[in-house]
Amino acid sequence: MTRLLLASGCALLALAALAAEALPPLDEPAATRGSAVYSHYCVLCHGEKADGKGVAAKTYRPPPANLVASVYPDAYKERIIREGGSAVGRSPYMPPWGKELSDQQIADLLAYLRRIKANPA
Ligand code: HEC
Repeated sequence: MTRLLLASGCALLALAALAAEALPPLDEPAATRGSAVYSHYCVLCHGEKADGKGVAAKTYRPPPANLVASVYPDAYKERIIREGGSAVGRSPYMPPWGKELSDQQIADLLAYLRRIKANPA
């Protein structure tokens, strides 16, 4: 019985380790390209530091999200970026970018968002 418990404990630990490593390593060149896309399309609302305090932020209630503190996974961020706030039941002031930005630009933005989350400016 003890051995069985030990074995399942180990399996759980192994699973936890796998989950922690699920994200591929950060693609730095993509994050750098994403930073340029961000400065062009997102900075006005989300701000220079991506903390949600852009020049236009005061206009919006709810305010633009603090992207450094975001708790959402990449899949959710990709969806709100492509389809806009209304598509996920959030504010329509978060515009949909799926028609304006290429898949590459969106992937680069996600890499940039991962980088600033790991190293807030
Ligand atoms: C016109 C202002 C505006 C612009 C421009 C804008 N956003 Fe937003 N964004 C918002 C608002 C407002 C919210 C919060 C919506 C809510 O809370 O209901 C938001 C939410 C988000 C979220 C959800 C994050 C979280 O943790 O909740 C992401 C991701 C995001 N924006 C990314 C972007 C990206 C990337 C761009 C540029 C391509 C961008 N936004 C451009 C206004 C904007």
